[in-house]
Amino acid sequence: MEKNKLYFLGRKQGYSIHKFIPSKVENRRKDEINGLNEVNNLERTHFINKANILFFRNKPEKTTDLQVKLLSKRISKIDSKLIINNIKSFYNYDSKDRSFKIWKENNLLCPDYIAFSNEEINNDTNTTIDRLYDFYKKYKKIIIRTNNETGSNGLYIIENKKDIPEIFHKLILRVNEKIKNAKDTKIMCVEYIENSSKNEYNELYRVHIIFDQILSYYVATSNKKEFHQADMSVNDIDRFIEVNKKFQKILPSIKNKLISAIKLLGNNIGGIEFFLVNNEPCFIELNPMWGGPASRTGFGNNKMKDYIKSNKPTLYKQIPNIYNWLDYKNYYKNMYMTIAKYYQDNFKK
Ligand SMILES: Nc1ncnc2c1ncn2[C@@H]1O[C@H](COP(=O)(O)OP(=O)(O)O)[C@@H](O)[C@H]1O
Ligand SMILES: [Mg+2]
Repeated sequence: MEKNKLYFLGRKQGYSIHKFIPSKVENRRKDEINGLNEVNNLERTHFINKANILFFRNKPEKTTDLQVKLLSKRISKIDSKLIINNIKSFYNYDSKDRSFKIWKENNLLCPDYIAFSNEEINNDTNTTIDRLYDFYKKYKKIIIRTNNETGSNGLYIIENKKDIPEIFHKLILRVNEKIKNAKDTKIMCVEYIENSSKNEYNELYRVHIIFDQILSYYVATSNKKEFHQADMSVNDIDRFIEVNKKFQKILPSIKNKLISAIKLLGNNIGGIEFFLVNNEPCFIELNPMWGGPASRTGFGNNKMKDYIKSNKPTLYKQIPNIYNWLDYKNYYKNMYMTIAKYYQDNFKK
């Protein structure tokens, strides 16, 4: 049987001059290609015409409008292939205000927000500041941020009204610069979602989904106000185990909402990030291809990583989700097998 063929597209991959330069897959995850190579009925091709499946891998925060345009053009005449994370949905996931809007319109929970156009922030600065004051008055704690950056860049938590003008002006400069390559850049204010538990810990949930299937998930926990899993330390370990165990039980009841959240944006693979408010997901972002330090070296700081590794025999049963994700090669083998099967079931004539 002939193998199904997979073609990657990215910022420097699969279009224009880049078509002719064989390159490494953009945003490639550790052991991802080793996993792919273990799948029997799927292989990479460097010719789009030979491909059955296209997979967009452009790193969102670096992707320019021009690249979106050229990549879209590249697939404009293609209709019979399976397209993974179609570039056409780029702004839906890259601009957090657009994601929020789509989720809200479809009755999925996300934080309240206002997004401001470039015209508003530059020409109606005072009116915009007044709107920020009103928003702050309503929630007492808010975030002011750019709508399309990652790693907490351009993100400020506001707990004092007096900080608003200075941060707002800082962000105006930032947006005016970014907007040159990314027209959809905006300033937005977002309701700060308080942790629902009584202690001072916050939990951040992330589930990796492919089509209708959950590939893995993890819960990060920290007493910081704003954090990513890499901010966890060995002191968080007990809590980390506890919240991950607990989430296993909740997950089946919210699974469909998580799958919808990704599909609604036009994606088919992604890491969906959310808080739990009364056991309901309150969505904050979709990362089209999961990554971050956990996809390379594990969870938390070095001590925490060592703890997780050395206690695998006793902990595996309690938090299999964590260990399955850390087994990168098998994890990606599984992902690519799922992709091949999906193609086989839904596209193959
Ligand atoms: N509405 C919110 N309420 C509370 N905390 C938030 C909110 N939005 C973001 N955060 C915090 O800020 C971090 C970064 O925000 P996020 O929207 O995920 O952007 P990115 O991961 O791209 O930097 C999150 O991990 C979370 O800790
Ligand atoms: Mg995030």
